[in-house]
Amino acid sequence: MMDLLYPTSWKDYELIDSGEFEKLERFGKYILARPEPQAIWQRVLPEQEWKKLASARFAREQSDKFRFTDEVKGGWNRSPSMPESWQINYQYKELNLSLRLALTGFGHVGIFPEQGQNWNFIYDSITSWDTTKPRVLNLFAYTGAASVVAKSAGADVTHVDASRPGLNWANQNMQNNSLDGIRWVYEDALKFVKREVKRGNKYQGIIMDPPPYGRGPEGEKWTLQEKLNELIEQASQLLEQNNSFFILSMYAVGLSSLVGYNVAKTHFPSRELQYGEFFLKSKNGNDLPMGTFVRFRR
Ligand SMILES: C[S@@+](CC[C@H](N)C(=O)[O-])C[C@H]1O[C@@H](n2cnc3c(N)ncnc32)[C@H](O)[C@@H]1O
Repeated sequence: MMDLLYPTSWKDYELIDSGEFEKLERFGKYILARPEPQAIWQRVLPEQEWKKLASARFAREQSDKFRFTDEVKGGWNRSPSMPESWQINYQYKELNLSLRLALTGFGHVGIFPEQGQNWNFIYDSITSWDTTKPRVLNLFAYTGAASVVAKSAGADVTHVDASRPGLNWANQNMQNNSLDGIRWVYEDALKFVKREVKRGNKYQGIIMDPPPYGRGPEGEKWTLQEKLNELIEQASQLLEQNNSFFILSMYAVGLSSLVGYNVAKTHFPSRELQYGEFFLKSKNGNDLPMGTFVRFRR
């Protein structure tokens, strides 16, 4: 059966409202209005309320509201009290993370709050094992929230991404949590996985959050629909049989969660797969779907 996941009891994050292709979110003490192509419904709060609440608003240059990619162009209109970057906290059991946020050029802020339940899953998986320093691989790892969660839980983490600014940001998140020793890999994710298979390396945890498309450092083209099957086929050879977990998150619009489920089921036939959608619960109005996931642990 399909599951619906959403982050709960997070003091520093809240979806306040959404609609008319925008979302209004609180990150710590700052409220942001950003484009959200899936929010085609009417808002609950009036425009002047959005204006009053928002410390910063990202305005797109492009006319079509349906773009989902990093090619989104535009800029932030921010109030004088709104800083360029700030920290928020994420707590779950003994986990108490400080995450750096910043207003980026394409409307991102450095975290995907809908990933909260996956961070909990990573933490619970690693802390349930008696293995010392289980090896965890995080692909398309962005600013490293999941890497810092795994490291905090005691894992030996390998963080792979094709963006230098992303790696630097992840390094800051590691240091801001008084952690060290995460292995930073600046490489195309599929290329790295293939080489790890050749080396016969194994991991107890594999996390992947591929964008619909992207580029590796040497221009390697990543297109989710074309490459996902090969990536998971290769990754399945890296995962330990026992005391292991796997998480795939997908943000490719229009792809049902069954897509990831079918691909994962092909390469992990003996595993009990959990799959579904993750969304953001709204304080006012409509809950906001964000993406799909497949995951399992044993
Ligand atoms: C934004 S994040 C996470 C995905 C996010 N959840 C989304 O769908 O937008 C995607 C990450 O993948 C990285 N990336 C894109 N193409 C890549 C590739 N071929 N190999 C490794 N990392 C890649 C980007 O640098 C970025 O940090």
